[in-house]
Amino acid sequence: MRPGLRDERTPHGIHSFDVDRLRSHFDFPARGRIVTNNAASTQPPRELAALLTRLTEGYENVHRGQSVASQRMTALFEESYDIFAQWLNAPSRRTIATYRNTTEAVNAVMYSLLTDFRDGDNVVTTLVEHNSNFVPWWAMCREILPRFGRRVECRVARFDHRSGELDVDHLASLVDHRTKLVCVTGASNFLGTKPPLETIRSIASGSGYVRDDGGSGSLLLVDAAQLVPSSHVDVQRLDVDYLAFSCHKVLAPFGVGVLYAKEALLARSRPFLYGGDMIATGRVSPDRVEYNDLPWKYAAGTPNILGVIVSAHALRLLVDMVGVDRSRCWFGSSAPLPPSIVARTMELVRQHTAELAELALCEAMAVDGLTWYGPGPGLPRSPLLAFNVAGVDPFALAGALGREGVEARAGCHCATLAHRDLGLDPPASCRVSFAAYNTRDDVTRAMDAVRRMSDRLRR
Ligand SMILES: Cc1ncc(COP(=O)(O)O)c(C=O)c1O
Repeated sequence: MRPGLRDERTPHGIHSFDVDRLRSHFDFPARGRIVTNNAASTQPPRELAALLTRLTEGYENVHRGQSVASQRMTALFEESYDIFAQWLNAPSRRTIATYRNTTEAVNAVMYSLLTDFRDGDNVVTTLVEHNSNFVPWWAMCREILPRFGRRVECRVARFDHRSGELDVDHLASLVDHRTKLVCVTGASNFLGTKPPLETIRSIASGSGYVRDDGGSGSLLLVDAAQLVPSSHVDVQRLDVDYLAFSCHKVLAPFGVGVLYAKEALLARSRPFLYGGDMIATGRVSPDRVEYNDLPWKYAAGTPNILGVIVSAHALRLLVDMVGVDRSRCWFGSSAPLPPSIVARTMELVRQHTAELAELALCEAMAVDGLTWYGPGPGLPRSPLLAFNVAGVDPFALAGALGREGVEARAGCHCATLAHRDLGLDPPASCRVSFAAYNTRDDVTRAMDAVRRMSDRLRR
């Protein structure tokens, strides 16, 4: 699809969207910003700030008041859980918990499962993880459980240095009948590769691990921080046990992360946080505490009420902005989002952002001395490109790009394991990453700046 292209309707619906129209919802284009750091955080559309202001007119706590304002805020807050569930095609709001971000959601799973690990169990994760999906498991195995006399091993699967693909055979060799949990990213935020989740699901399911519920197979946790923003994710089809993402990477303001978990797991597990609202009304005594119904068992303390509502409505607004169904306005309405509308919206976003990543790679290949990481041209990659240029410090390059108006990022992007495994010293690369509002012009200007700044810094 080309930027500015008007909607093209086929008998089956639209197969592209109007990027210029979508951009008109944002303030950053008018400021001349070339926003290519979207894997870190996306920009918020104007409507969300307006929604926040409107919500403050009826500002009240949830589940903690009988006023009209409190009842209304409670309804909006609870409906947000429905929206998150609809977005992921989860069975109901009972499978959703909200936290501050993906990192906190993964930690919540770790603390919920902590006491269930048996001596001799293991966790299998990978070298392509963001630190959010490695360090909690490393800490659990190396720092927390040993203090309780339990030995649990943290095993780490390799990746192919040339293609950036996860070595699934190696992962399979690490999974055995003592693997309680397999933790894997849905899309690498450095290499751009997407591990094959269906295959990993069947490896985990076939591990032979005997679960507490009498069933067999390892649990599967997917870090979907980079997957949810650029593709349609159906948790029932993927059959994942846990899946986490951050709303600040999907147009929402900072502060809200979503955890999906199978209802049976949430019903059985211990909460990560204890306190108010997560208990059944009136059911606390010195000897006994009963927990609230799902999903509120996992909502201890006053939550980020406005953040959750605005984050959920960011998803509805994305549907309107992409425009797969112009017969109605989803933003601000309470009509349930049909799975087909979500799927079509995200398929268009996926196609568009994949085209941008492919263009970035083609342009990058023409830059002298540039090494890119992850898949080559024509191969699937999530919408980002990380690279280094021989003789150029990636931090100096990102700084120079910033002065040219190109918002790239240098560092290890918290994918420290993969940078180290590739032997990068310092463990750093420069990265451009794309969202639905980026245009081909953004990409060519960004990559032209990479070429010019690299030449200048090499001199
Ligand atoms: C793959 C991946 N996982 C987890 C995270 C952590 O997200 P957050 O900082 O919102 O917790 C990120 C953020 O960049 C990421 O890219």
